[in-house]
Amino acid sequence: MIKAVRGTRDLLPPDTELWNFVERKVREVFARYNYHEIRTPVFESTELFARGVGEETDIVSKEMFTWEDGERFSKAKLREAWLRENKDRVFIDEMDQVLVAGFAPIDLAVYPTDGSRVDRPLIELISLRPQATEADVSALIDASKRLVTERGGMLALKAPLLRIVTPAGARSVNSTEVEITQLAGHFFESVQPLTLRPENTAGVVRAYIEHEMGRSGLLQKLYYIGPQFRRERPQKGRYRQFYQIGAEVIGPPSAGSELPIRDAEVLDMLIALLHAVGLTGWTLYLNSVGCVHCRPAYNQALREALAGVKDQMCGDCQRRAETNPLRVLDCKVPADQPIIEKLPKIADYLDEGCREHFAQVRAMLDTLEVPYQVNERMVRGLDYYTRTTFEFTHGELGSQSAVLGGGRYDGLSEQIGGPKAPGIGFAIGEDRLVLALQAQQQQALAPLKAFIIPLGTGMNRHALKLARQLRAERVTVDVSDEGFRLKKSFETAEKLGATFAILVGGNEVEADAFAVKRLKSGEQTTVSRAELLEYLEG
Ligand code: HAM
Repeated sequence: MIKAVRGTRDLLPPDTELWNFVERKVREVFARYNYHEIRTPVFESTELFARGVGEETDIVSKEMFTWEDGERFSKAKLREAWLRENKDRVFIDEMDQVLVAGFAPIDLAVYPTDGSRVDRPLIELISLRPQATEADVSALIDASKRLVTERGGMLALKAPLLRIVTPAGARSVNSTEVEITQLAGHFFESVQPLTLRPENTAGVVRAYIEHEMGRSGLLQKLYYIGPQFRRERPQKGRYRQFYQIGAEVIGPPSAGSELPIRDAEVLDMLIALLHAVGLTGWTLYLNSVGCVHCRPAYNQALREALAGVKDQMCGDCQRRAETNPLRVLDCKVPADQPIIEKLPKIADYLDEGCREHFAQVRAMLDTLEVPYQVNERMVRGLDYYTRTTFEFTHGELGSQSAVLGGGRYDGLSEQIGGPKAPGIGFAIGEDRLVLALQAQQQQALAPLKAFIIPLGTGMNRHALKLARQLRAERVTVDVSDEGFRLKKSFETAEKLGATFAILVGGNEVEADAFAVKRLKSGEQTTVSRAELLEYLEG
């Protein structure tokens, strides 16, 4: 049996009802805060995440699904491209279209003989010996094979026959001897490292830059719902394909994108959403991680503090103590925790601007009566954060307790080659939000009110008519089939959790009144069509 890949899973009914309920609430609540949906591709160039999220983060250094993508050229297209590029420079040998150029320092060279016209060899080998030997020819063959392997083996062209040209004369070699699956730099350029998005902030900021969304001079308030991919060790609440609901406010500084009111409004919206979906029992942790001006001093302090103790820490910490000391604070290794507890605190290194910004965010949250705890160790696992960072945890989630996380990223746009465009946002782990809601036994599902049972031949259409009437009144009903035995239909009604069963037989249709059975108590009454809605809702 072919099964879903480790770390991925199918979302099935009835769970999908809860997912849809959550997403409906997201769209409703976010719209009230003037957010609009953005959909970016599920894969992006690897460089975007390396530069945006940061090389030293766990996400980029260990968890990305990355591959080298090369365009596959047909032979005809390849030939065309070669000709177009080299039309002014080609030089044809009289013998049989083998192209030879007088590359003085090159002793050995491979040229295609399949009609491609080139003025440079596809592969060159420079021999230091005055005269090429059989051994040189073998070395050339080896080198060409190595080249193919090193370049990742993308298929660009298989030359059917290659000709080895030496200063001493030409010798043909059959391509079974030299199987060249990738040739010439021109085609290497089409090979691109791509990555399944591990998060969506970098993609949104890329889109903001690419489409010059800052030109309006307004704030862009964007949200997304979609899958993300990280190669983490799967466990409950941690998947390799998971879903995020995220939002980003980004814009030129003149639109107020840096101001603390944006931070407070984002958190206010989150709380409105959690309220709308009915999540209780969460804790909001808040911190400020400073900015480009004050972070270097903090990094320096961390480096100095770590210098004496890092040898007792895990391998990751030892490396990060040098390369990116802030990441040491992310370490989850239990033995390292007492050391980390004693490290300098970021709060002591914030500059005046960051301190004031944080104070204003907090003052607004206090006025809005948003409960939070400051957690000075919370730096979050992505490098782009500046100033405000936050996380919401939920007690029902066990070890994967972060239901959402976010923060400000005032330098991200510039870091990936865009204009100055400060921003703040968050992403909710939708899988975890749903798990928490389920754990809370949230009855977000619209329960099945009635199961309509047609009794006898010709009754299906009457049952469907009644179902349509009730559904038009927003009652959730389902319908059996006249071919099923009554006992079976009642069993189905119970399994589906219906409150009522409604019988539709010939007598009922004639009287326009139906036998309605309350499944829990077994109580049964006849109710006219006109009074049915009121009876079911009562
Ligand atoms: P993050 O903290 O990496 O932030 O992820 C946000 C949330 O996604 C986490 O709190 C968690 O609920 C969920 N999550 C992460 N990894 C997994 C996983 N393997 N399985 C299930 N759920 C997971 C970001 O991604 C940032 N882009 C958030 C952001 C937006 N910051 C500013 N704007």
